[in-house]
Amino acid sequence: MKRGRRSAASGGSNPYTDNDVADFYSGLDYAGTYHLAVRDLPDIIARQVTGRFALDFACGAGRSTRFLTSLGFQAVGVDMSRRMLAHARRKDPTGRYALIPNGDLSSLADRAFDLVHSAFPLGNATSRERIRSILAQFKRVLAPGGRVIVIEATDALYRHEWLSFSTAAYSENARATSGDLVRIAFRERMDQPVVDVLWTDADYRQCFKAAGLTLLETHLPLVDEGNPQPWISEREVAPWVIYVLASTDEIAST
Ligand SMILES: C[S@@+](CC[C@H](N)C(=O)[O-])C[C@H]1O[C@@H](n2cnc3c(N)ncnc32)[C@H](O)[C@@H]1O
Repeated sequence: MKRGRRSAASGGSNPYTDNDVADFYSGLDYAGTYHLAVRDLPDIIARQVTGRFALDFACGAGRSTRFLTSLGFQAVGVDMSRRMLAHARRKDPTGRYALIPNGDLSSLADRAFDLVHSAFPLGNATSRERIRSILAQFKRVLAPGGRVIVIEATDALYRHEWLSFSTAAYSENARATSGDLVRIAFRERMDQPVVDVLWTDADYRQCFKAAGLTLLETHLPLVDEGNPQPWISEREVAPWVIYVLASTDEIAST
């Protein structure tokens, strides 16, 4: 049967509100392919971020919030999934976590955070307008001199094989364009793929600009020589992209 492309507008949703997905996700650390999402963050943050107050937008089960805390931040994790937050609180009883409505940061004060960190939620956003709206709120809660760090899947993630993920069963991903639904399976759950929305580097850059954020650095981490794990594509193709951003108003005034 020929499969047509499926766009996010026709049915994308946040898979992490599903209890089963949330329970699985809570067991993940930064091993395997995820290692590349955080390996360079301590250096990037040391160069780019001053101040200690961090917002971890879409903290999920708190993996990224605990990472920020380990780097010395007073971090607040926010997420729209109750189940994910329950896991975060269980794993980190002294941590600060809060439920927010879908993409809505209106409960947070203006200019409160030196760092806004966002790892992996924008690949669930169903339109560029939603991405822009979330990014504009990052700008509002950013303290003077603050930085936004956005970590997302590259579009290549959905078209290659990886140590931790497989896309081999989803050949239709190859034809996906911006805003289409794409599927990817964790190797531990090959029969239950996660459905994401494909956004490209060009889409993210357009949204940053429209939200009043200026891109300072872009990183496409690859595995180092000498790292002996059985990597598949990770030495040649970056699965993740890391963007470092500042308020365009601030950049313009310096
Ligand atoms: C893949 S998990 C990543 C969690 C965490 N940042 C990490 O790296 O482990 C994505 C999380 O983003 C949350 N999320 C996605 N879209 C969101 C939105 N619009 N508002 C709030 N949370 C969102 C989901 O509920 C989920 O917990």
